[in-house]
Amino acid sequence: MLETDVSPTNINPTIYLKDYQKPEFLIPEVMLDFALNQASTLVVATMQVKRSSGSGTPLVLHGEKMQLVSLAINGKTLSDAEYQIDAESLTILNVPDAFELEVQTELLPHLNTELSGLYQSSGNFCTQCEAEGFRRITYFLDRPDVLSVYRVRLTADVVDCPVLLSNGNPVASGRNDDNTHWAEWFDPHPKPSYLFALVAGNLEHVTDHFTTASGNKVELNIYAQQHNIEKCDHAMASLKKSMRWDEDVYGREYDLDIYNIVAVDDFNMGAMENKGLNVFNSKYVLANQDTATDLDYEGIESVIAHEYFHNWSGNRVTCRDWFQLSLKEGFTVFRDQEFSADMGSRAVKRIRDVQSLRAFQFKEDAGPMAHPVRPDSYQEINNFYTSTIYQKGAEVIRMMRELVGVEGFRRGTDLYFDRFDGQAVTTEDFVTSIEQANDIDLAQFRLWYTQSGTPSIRVQQSYTDQTLTLTIQQSCPATPGQDRKRPFQMPLCIALLLPSGEKVLQQTLVLTEDEQSFEFSGLPEQPVVSMLRGFSAPVKLEYNQSDDELLTLVSFDDDGFVRWEAMQRLCLKLLLPAVENGSINEAAYSRVRDAFLKLLTEPCHDKAMLAEMLSLPTASYLAELSEAIEPRQISLIRQQCVQRLAKDLESPFHTVYAQQGQNTDFSLDAESMASRSLKNRTLMYLVATGQPAYYALASHQYHAANTMTDRLSAFTALVHSSYPDRQALIDHFYQQWKDDPLVMDKWFAMQAIAPRDNLLPDIEQLMSNPTFSINNPNKVRSLIGAFTSNLLAFHQQDGAGYKFLVDCVIQLNTINPQVAARLISTINNWRRYAQPYQSLMCTQLERLANENGLASDVTEIVSKALK
Ligand code: ARG
Ligand code: ZN
Repeated sequence: MLETDVSPTNINPTIYLKDYQKPEFLIPEVMLDFALNQASTLVVATMQVKRSSGSGTPLVLHGEKMQLVSLAINGKTLSDAEYQIDAESLTILNVPDAFELEVQTELLPHLNTELSGLYQSSGNFCTQCEAEGFRRITYFLDRPDVLSVYRVRLTADVVDCPVLLSNGNPVASGRNDDNTHWAEWFDPHPKPSYLFALVAGNLEHVTDHFTTASGNKVELNIYAQQHNIEKCDHAMASLKKSMRWDEDVYGREYDLDIYNIVAVDDFNMGAMENKGLNVFNSKYVLANQDTATDLDYEGIESVIAHEYFHNWSGNRVTCRDWFQLSLKEGFTVFRDQEFSADMGSRAVKRIRDVQSLRAFQFKEDAGPMAHPVRPDSYQEINNFYTSTIYQKGAEVIRMMRELVGVEGFRRGTDLYFDRFDGQAVTTEDFVTSIEQANDIDLAQFRLWYTQSGTPSIRVQQSYTDQTLTLTIQQSCPATPGQDRKRPFQMPLCIALLLPSGEKVLQQTLVLTEDEQSFEFSGLPEQPVVSMLRGFSAPVKLEYNQSDDELLTLVSFDDDGFVRWEAMQRLCLKLLLPAVENGSINEAAYSRVRDAFLKLLTEPCHDKAMLAEMLSLPTASYLAELSEAIEPRQISLIRQQCVQRLAKDLESPFHTVYAQQGQNTDFSLDAESMASRSLKNRTLMYLVATGQPAYYALASHQYHAANTMTDRLSAFTALVHSSYPDRQALIDHFYQQWKDDPLVMDKWFAMQAIAPRDNLLPDIEQLMSNPTFSINNPNKVRSLIGAFTSNLLAFHQQDGAGYKFLVDCVIQLNTINPQVAARLISTINNWRRYAQPYQSLMCTQLERLANENGLASDVTEIVSKALK
């Protein structure tokens, strides 16, 4: 039967949480048989279907972008009259209450550029099913509350596809007469279709094993293309650490005989936790000292952990529907953040996570896509894999742990995993578990799941009669669909320091009201308040502390986050007014310079922290804090401050640089990474002086480097400066690394974020570089995506940057709508910009909105942006 000729509608209806209904049918078992061929893959799906509610209603299955070949119930082929098919579903009118359904479909993996469903990457077959990719493989109940046991049989050419992988454990394999071979996999754990995966191709692997706490020996494999197989060791080590950590900290063991990870170059996101068969963006697997920076190594460790942790928070206990996405993502991000904190520097990890929250989530919360951690509605679920669901979701879990304590939290998660193992549940089920295990009431706390927007905390202090009074007000701005907010319950961790630095009190205040006062008596001296320790709640803090108070915190606070934040606030007192007035206040500048000088010259106990303390607030954070964003001004003022600090503190920067040494042995231990981080921070300042001697120093570091961290830092510092031999350096890097796509991603990105005018022609030229491909999401992100974050070059005053972006999005709309939607989201907060930027962005968004054939992903973002 031919598919009725209906092209998919581009106006997705809005889907509401309140309309959720249990499935009328279940599919307890499914057998999938794939005959893999790039030009035409045949899938035979045999499902045991059972009615679970209603009677006499038709069976409606999801399905799109494939050809139905045949359909049979209990062995009898259905005639055209017995079913209906449209662009998104298949309806079988009369079905028994229990039956076997056989669906045959034909797929064209080589034409799948959307990278959802079955596709090819570097010639190898792979799948991405979350959120709704399985419906591009067969007609199915493609919703997370339908859990099935899968048996999968793969057949493919023995030469092209020596490796055949799917979920669970391998059960059998063999050769056929026709140059094909087959393998069968069985996954005993019932799972939703979004966790299905297959991989088939010509891949090598590294192997290792892990023995679980109960003594089961698990085989661990990481698959990659042959030329990358030397780069899998760090990922393997990270996997073993993750497995141990989840046993130690959460009491969670792995539950299959085998754990496979596959690295692919074409992937829409970071990685995917398919049961027993994780598929990864190669960026989060492959590393060696020549190609990967310390940040890359940390990224790999955390994403390997993230996907591993999903085995419990996501797979064993999954989501009832996609409104509950943060149930698995927020919790799993929290778990991976804590894992990384345990593996490295807890303070630096927290600082980076807060920076990222502020850069992406605060921005989202202040724009047209603002949504609660548990959204009420969506048009395109792929647009809801957001920083709010992931990062703010993690903050919400973190606050609960703060409220009940570490042990109480573990009691809660034990209860949650035990009670809901094998089920598809809701964020409400998680909160209830924490509540019941601790006998507390989180009724008000639940507002974090339903109210969007970033709350502000306003703190006022007074000190009389040896008593400090803190008056704290909270408020939350209106967001789309939510005009008024109720006060949140939130933990506010504080400490009081004497001016001498001695800590006299530490406490967690719990806010519940619009305004509350807290008194601390018996304080013979006025203390300095260490506020929002560890960033204990995801809020904006308005608190006018004096320069002296901030400097006390910088020098003495034992909370790394607050120490760093105090330094940032001191810098903001310089930068924000300067951006507004177009000039630097000398007194404010001197205070920042003196604070830098003190940090550079006093004995250093923690180099990683010092490197963080020596960074000015990011341009994106300055934008976030602006009334009306002046992108070019922000970039120029920030650069000016960097250059002045560089000139004024040249000698101490150089001393610290020199102390770190050039060619220490390559090592990934914390001390070596911290030293590289500090060295490269100071190098950036030295190069910013514009002095030829420092260009030479950086150039020498670039050529002599024994790590990509040192090489890329020197490269970046020079490419972002007025170094006369910039282009020769860029060409040199290219010649060295043009065969390594992940290194090329860095090469593109560092050029795309260079703080200089008239960069657009360079960007356009880079798009025609032979190593660039608009079909590869990593390339799009590293060139076009990075360019959109360039506050100087992207925000050209004639709007050419915005026009370029929309041209790219129009092209990507047909190639890969998910990537297109993410890219256009970067300007959906156009109303926050000053003129002329605001109008210029609006014009381009309108141009995009008027384009024919926009994918639903893009339509949702653009229509909400213009509403
Ligand atoms: N669950 C994956 C993770 O661990 C994300 C996959 C989302 N993919 C997508 N195309 N929406 O974060
Ligand atoms: Zn995840």
